[in-house]
Amino acid sequence: MEVAIALDSSSSKPLYQQIYEELRQAILKGRLPPGSQIPSTRSLSKSLGISRFTITQSYEQLNSEGYLETIVGSGTFVCKQLPDELLHSTPIESFSKVIQNPIKLSRYGRILIYADNVAKIDDSPLTIKFRFGRPAFDQFPIELWRRLLSRYCSADQNWLDYSIDPLGYRPLREQIANYLSRSRAVNCEPDRILITNGTQQALDLILRLLIEPEEIIAIEDPGYLSARLIFQTHGAHILPIGVDESGLIVEQIQKLTSSNIRLVYVTPSHQFPTGAVLSLSRRLQLLAWAQQNGTLIIEDDYDSEYRYNGRPIPALQGLDRGSCVLYVGTFSKVLFPSLRIGYLVLPKSLVSIFTRAKWLSGRHLPILEQQVLAEFIKAGHLERHIRKMRSLYDQRRQTLVQALKDYFGKRATILGDQAGIHLMVCLQTDLRDEEIIHRAAEVNVEMTPASPNYLNLDSKGNNSRGEFIFGYGELTKQQLQEGIRRLAKILIT
Ligand SMILES: Cc1ncc(COP(=O)(O)O)c(C=O)c1O
Repeated sequence: MEVAIALDSSSSKPLYQQIYEELRQAILKGRLPPGSQIPSTRSLSKSLGISRFTITQSYEQLNSEGYLETIVGSGTFVCKQLPDELLHSTPIESFSKVIQNPIKLSRYGRILIYADNVAKIDDSPLTIKFRFGRPAFDQFPIELWRRLLSRYCSADQNWLDYSIDPLGYRPLREQIANYLSRSRAVNCEPDRILITNGTQQALDLILRLLIEPEEIIAIEDPGYLSARLIFQTHGAHILPIGVDESGLIVEQIQKLTSSNIRLVYVTPSHQFPTGAVLSLSRRLQLLAWAQQNGTLIIEDDYDSEYRYNGRPIPALQGLDRGSCVLYVGTFSKVLFPSLRIGYLVLPKSLVSIFTRAKWLSGRHLPILEQQVLAEFIKAGHLERHIRKMRSLYDQRRQTLVQALKDYFGKRATILGDQAGIHLMVCLQTDLRDEEIIHRAAEVNVEMTPASPNYLNLDSKGNNSRGEFIFGYGELTKQQLQEGIRRLAKILIT
């Protein structure tokens, strides 16, 4: 079916958003009736004369909101079951509300309107929560931390003023540099480390400084949703690249004929969410390709400290001879996420511009916490804590794997249990993800579906995959066993 789309090249609204809105209006007003086929991304991109990525982004948004469905081998169609209330609602309600709002939003702000997943903090009252990325809070040495805080708090008053280290507290950068080169074979000196407000700020600064709107960023699919949201809100085009048991399928990038990819985002040590470890040969392939194409790589090394079998593979950054890797790390998993301390290891040439951007966007992190953390690492507490936690998480991981095997047998396929503090499980069931989550909540268990981390739909054309992320870091042996027992009871009939 032909569809007329009017684009306004003078508008500050990104093209993918204009297409999204035009198609959404056409559906809501009945110009594109339920069940009708819409043009393929290829043909629409040809007829509008704009890139296929732009069209794909608009279709993806419409797919995820339930307006379109893709049937593999047949095409993309307007959903047959549009909710009634949708058909009677004001078109693009949230957007028109903002337009009427006396305060005009920027392009970034307007894109954020659609990013429903942002700032959704989990506060469910369920008792057993299989959440990802949470360390064992009850094991954190709070008393020791409190003593260090009070020692630095009373020692002198220097920490009350603005920091004189715009890159971050220098002794902390020295400790991080030591730690990274020792434990991760990362190639770095303190003067190439920028202390950031967690991984999120590191990614945000990278996007601000290195990427123009409409430029292409390749990401793992599935991949870390919070990273993708940053890339999308900055107006980048997202190019999904598949993942298998050896991590990012680098061959897919190599095969692309026009490779004007500016940035590749990867989680090589423990792919998020599948848990795959990027093989050494793929690491080398990826680096060689990036160097050849002048592409930068973001290496998000968020939980590599926890590896349970085999020798750790050195960080990509340590293998890089061409300064194309931006290495991002965080203390959210090895210590605790509210600390909000992460770091970015930069090529020398980028240090000065990143320092300025960091200073403008928030000056620096609280000095007191940076001092405490520097001392915590220097005195050996960090590595002691990691050793202790590695052994605890290993036990928890084995408990979870055993419980899944005992209760689900072949109905559960376990992925990515060799590292990190979560694993992924593929459940064989006819139930949709929403139904599984609903039933689990009735027995007080919180499930985390993997589907929001996917860009591409599954082979049935939907995003309900039966795949769930099981974080085990914060759950005791009893909770893990009881959680899986309850799930089996409600899911296996
Ligand atoms: C892939 C990935 N990167 C980074 C982080 C940590 O982010 P932050 O340092 O902003 O807390 C997480 C947290 O779950 C993650 O899953």
